[in-house]
Amino acid sequence: MAQTHIPTMIRDGVVHLARLLGPKPKAKPRDMTGRQVIVTGASPGSMGYAAALQLARWGADVVATRRRDPDALQQALRAELGTDGGSVTARALDLADRDSVSAFADWYRERSSALHVLVNNAGILHDLLALRRQVERSADGFEVHWRINYLGTFQLTSLLLPLLLDSAEADGDARVLNVTSHQHVRGRNERLFAELAKHNPWDAYGQSKLALIHMAQALHRRHGGTGRFRALSLHPGSVYTNLVTGGLESYTPVRPIQWLLAAPVKVALLSPLQGAQTTLFCATDANVQGGRYYDRCALSQPSADARDASAAERLWTLSEEWLAQP
Ligand SMILES: NC(=O)c1ccc[n+]([C@@H]2O[C@H](COP(=O)([O-])OP(=O)(O)OC[C@H]3O[C@@H](n4cnc5c(N)ncnc54)[C@H](OP(=O)(O)O)[C@@H]3O)[C@@H](O)[C@H]2O)c1
Repeated sequence: MAQTHIPTMIRDGVVHLARLLGPKPKAKPRDMTGRQVIVTGASPGSMGYAAALQLARWGADVVATRRRDPDALQQALRAELGTDGGSVTARALDLADRDSVSAFADWYRERSSALHVLVNNAGILHDLLALRRQVERSADGFEVHWRINYLGTFQLTSLLLPLLLDSAEADGDARVLNVTSHQHVRGRNERLFAELAKHNPWDAYGQSKLALIHMAQALHRRHGGTGRFRALSLHPGSVYTNLVTGGLESYTPVRPIQWLLAAPVKVALLSPLQGAQTTLFCATDANVQGGRYYDRCALSQPSADARDASAAERLWTLSEEWLAQP
């Protein structure tokens, strides 16, 4: 085992248990009729799925994405909506693939003349126990957390931004929500601009989540001046989703332990619907503040690195350069 994260897991476990004793986050129901929403990363068992379902129940016209088999996702969502009504369409999107992101954005712009809420929720945390020594790379050569969680999200947001700004102008309220993580505290600004010297999946995940906070702030600085457009980031809590269950599945020796631990871990973490509450709050609350970071349906403070506007601006410039490459 190259680098275990047992101290981090114990520390996080204590924090989770302390939070478990407090009240659960809860967003108030809102009328979302007429609002066009995209939720990325909405596979069954995920927070995105719970958020997409709830937003559709509140009246929004929701497009939900996963990497593959959108038909199965659509069937699952529609079956759950049942007679409650609500509009939901599922579509494939792979954030690690430029062409997939472009095709999705083209499809969405053909389908709809407005976009009021873009929930950048899709994300990965591979190798939960940090057992692999090798960096896992995307087909185009990037560390996968950086590629999927950050760069793919930057591309998607950039392509949909004109529509978001038009909708903000026309209807008075459009938002981009970046679902990040309290693990952004593991990220460091100086490491945003060079690959990590020593591979560690939790650090790589933290870097990508720090970058998403910078992105939301930079986006809000550019377009939030009118008060009609907001970009913000949030931590959903520690949640029992596919990220937790699937993250351990590839470790054969861990399976029996995973099976034994599943029930207590499930109790200790938030459910996907509880984990979706801060997303729902940020997507719907009239007074939510652009450029800020939310946790447990309330304003919170990200790390000092995440509040460094010069790092955010440098990252923005580099991301635009990457986007401009053929
Ligand atoms: N669970 C937690 O405790 C926790 C805590 C803090 C933050 N978060 C964040 O919350 C968000 C939602 O996570 P979750 O816990 O609900 O995890 P999840 O159940 O694993 O859902 C992740 C979603 O992201 C999608 N996804 C994965 N790779 C993708 C790619 N290359 N392109 C497009 N979509 C992709 C997945 O689709 P497929 O099924 O097709 O792979 C899935 O729909 C993530 O950004 C995560 O980092 C989670």
